[in-house]
Amino acid sequence: MALLEIKKAGDPVLKQICAPVEKIDKRLRNFLDDMAETMYASEGVGIAAPQVGKAIRVCVVDVDKKTRYDLINPVITYREGVAVDQEGCLSCPDLFGDVERAAKIRVEYTNRFGKKKLLEAEGLLARCIQHELDHLDGQLFIDIAKNITQGRKKTED
Ligand code: CO
Repeated sequence: MALLEIKKAGDPVLKQICAPVEKIDKRLRNFLDDMAETMYASEGVGIAAPQVGKAIRVCVVDVDKKTRYDLINPVITYREGVAVDQEGCLSCPDLFGDVERAAKIRVEYTNRFGKKKLLEAEGLLARCIQHELDHLDGQLFIDIAKNITQGRKKTED
């Protein structure tokens, strides 16, 4: 495994529409493991391939440090409700802002062994998946966030 370089806002790879993955093989699984290692080392809860310079439709999320999801070609097929909460991003160090997301989602994806999966998510997991999927379409949270601040906002604000 290896740590990958995280691309920062302003890098053109973060603005690309990522290409679907066609082949799920050992090489892709190694890449997913490197993405995960990079995410954990940076204390992130999600990371998308363009953030490490590869414009393909994969992301890794783990919001409880127990359950890691490797999402290949993920598509949100259902959204319900609205939730606003503060987000940050490994590609936008020290920036935080409020983002409106669906409260509950259903996402279809292929797992690292090529199996089609369906995941229902709410709370932080739903937020994180929506944030990562935006990366696959070249969108950063700072493009859509409100009240962007340097440093995490205090809860009483
Ligand atoms: Co991000």
